[in-house]
Amino acid sequence: MRESATCDLRPVTCLHLGAAYYPEHWPEERWPEDIRLMREAGLTVARLAEFAWSTLEPAEGDFHLDWLDRAISALASASIATVLGTPTAAPPAWLVEQHPDLLAVDESGRHVQFGNRCHYCVNSPQFHAATRRIVGAMVERFGSNPHVIGWQLDNEYNRVCYCDRCRSLFQRYLAEKFGSLDALNAHWTTRYWSQTYSAWEQIPIPIGLHNPGLMLEFKRFVTESYRQFQRLQLDVLRPHLRPLLLVGGAGGGVWVTHNFMGWFDGFDHYALTEDLDLASWDWYVGTGHHDYLSSGAAHDLTRGFKRRNFWLMETQPGSVNWSAINNMLNKGEARAMAWQAVAHGADAVLYWQWRSALGGQEQYHGTLVDPSGQPRPFYEEAQQLGRDFAAVSSLLANSAVVSEVALLNSYDSRWAIQWQRHHRDFDYVAHFNHYYRPLAARNIAADVISADTPLDNYKLVIAPALLMLNESRAARLRDFVARGGHLVLTIRCGMKDDYNALLPSRQPGPLVDLAGVEIVEYYALLDPVPVAGEWFTGTSRLWAERLRVLDETGTQVIARYGESNGWLNGHPAVTVHPHGQGRVVFVGAYLDEVSQQSLLDRITSAAGVQPVMETPVGVEARRRVTAAGEEVFIAINHERAEQLMRLPWPAREHLSGQSVGEELRLAPYGVAVLTRLA
Ligand code: GLA
Ligand code: ZN
Repeated sequence: MRESATCDLRPVTCLHLGAAYYPEHWPEERWPEDIRLMREAGLTVARLAEFAWSTLEPAEGDFHLDWLDRAISALASASIATVLGTPTAAPPAWLVEQHPDLLAVDESGRHVQFGNRCHYCVNSPQFHAATRRIVGAMVERFGSNPHVIGWQLDNEYNRVCYCDRCRSLFQRYLAEKFGSLDALNAHWTTRYWSQTYSAWEQIPIPIGLHNPGLMLEFKRFVTESYRQFQRLQLDVLRPHLRPLLLVGGAGGGVWVTHNFMGWFDGFDHYALTEDLDLASWDWYVGTGHHDYLSSGAAHDLTRGFKRRNFWLMETQPGSVNWSAINNMLNKGEARAMAWQAVAHGADAVLYWQWRSALGGQEQYHGTLVDPSGQPRPFYEEAQQLGRDFAAVSSLLANSAVVSEVALLNSYDSRWAIQWQRHHRDFDYVAHFNHYYRPLAARNIAADVISADTPLDNYKLVIAPALLMLNESRAARLRDFVARGGHLVLTIRCGMKDDYNALLPSRQPGPLVDLAGVEIVEYYALLDPVPVAGEWFTGTSRLWAERLRVLDETGTQVIARYGESNGWLNGHPAVTVHPHGQGRVVFVGAYLDEVSQQSLLDRITSAAGVQPVMETPVGVEARRRVTAAGEEVFIAINHERAEQLMRLPWPAREHLSGQSVGEELRLAPYGVAVLTRLA
């Protein structure tokens, strides 16, 4: 049996396996059996209490915290640490009865129903007061408990409220931001359709499509509302928590996180994570199976929030209950997924949830233990993972993913594109992944980071559909290229300003000189259009931009459009332009997958970017580098068939404890954790 004592106080530097556990659903006599089974599965952390408000405070100010204290202690005696959730995603019935208007209002103006989750108005002062009270009581009791290693605020923020209070707060936010109605009217071109505002009170919350400037500011207001709500909780918590001494949590303090939802776009995640210590996310597949080439991007997105390791706070123990077909993942698939998360920088994997509650809305969700209290078949897979993590936890301690490539993500660009797709099938994330996948297929590590972060230490930066290109973004990119960086700009780049107004210039706006081309027209396509050049012969689908070369001597035309709608025939589709020490590739096409792979292969090799390792199709290889500089390689077979791969060197495989020569045999969904021998 694994002893995890060294892990307990150093959560971010160890590898944790865990589950969401709701002891309040069960008689206390049952807890020892649950904890025994957890220990036998190798669990080292449990997440408690994130929906337990009605049990913790059954009436105003009447706190019942002893049971939670006993649960934390019982878990700790089995070397299982606790992450505590603040229960604010589930305001209880008595609170709603006291303050009915803390219920959020939906788009049609109706209060949302009590009894599901996140039914609160994020700006309700009564809800804020109740939040301070319950979070305060919890942290006074558990803030210095050595077994509570971290806190999770609320659960999956997602609700948007349309109540009158939110509307007037939105108007106040606009007044502060714009200073005058004249400025707002000008930025939003409100003369259009006579939208001119002569009083702040006239401005609505957008329902459905509306003025693009108004829609963008409302998203920012929603972000700000959650940020304030989050700060309110942080202000209550932080004075009671052991401080984090070192960046990354290695100093042994208590961290605070929120469990985000990957590519969910309800608010700007960079703004929200700025105030947190640790980023975490909940990964569910739903129907079908995961596509590893794209799922890596979601992990990297979460790692990019704080630009360091993250937690996988929830993932499915085989199946969910909310999808069209709640199929079980194949045997071994979830283990490979857990390893993929770790390979991309996760320091913990937690299943949701431990045991099926007998009642409530999620009776059929996957769990480790079934309603009878006995382990499900899936439990064995978790147990295998428990053995895996125990074997390599110290090897991977204090290790991080290192990348030479960054992909820039921008919520404002994404929102603006999604509201005006121009082609029904144009999807920001799909287009983003169109650039991520060819890298993943070659085992090239990439960071997914905000378009507003420094770009030091990268060789290659890709800015997929960076629609909003303000001066500070442009300046950073210019500087990156001048210093020798390779930059890829794509379709839908450089069209908008910070207010979601069109720039009075041709694309890519302020980067025209850098790109050596301008876009003279964009076309939404009914049918694919031929694109050919030295590097590939293929097609562009959905979208095509007609480029005009500005720097005739410097710009190299890589590919041109073939015969199509007449407007594109023979015009440049992909160009390369040297600038300073670096170069800029402009991709005006949305290439087919084979051509896109060839394009990215050329781009990465010109930029001198190295793959982690070569693998057969379906096998992923990633690398984490420890603080001491040791390289740990993780190879994951995402296929249902055995795969044979060549290693560039003899290695030690740490899950089996065996040495391997230059040939590595990976079982279906098999995993290897390797360090180089000699
Ligand atoms: C979300 C929630 C969990 C649970 C799962 C079920 O991620 O955070 O509480 O409802 O979904 O898949
Ligand atoms: Zn509201």
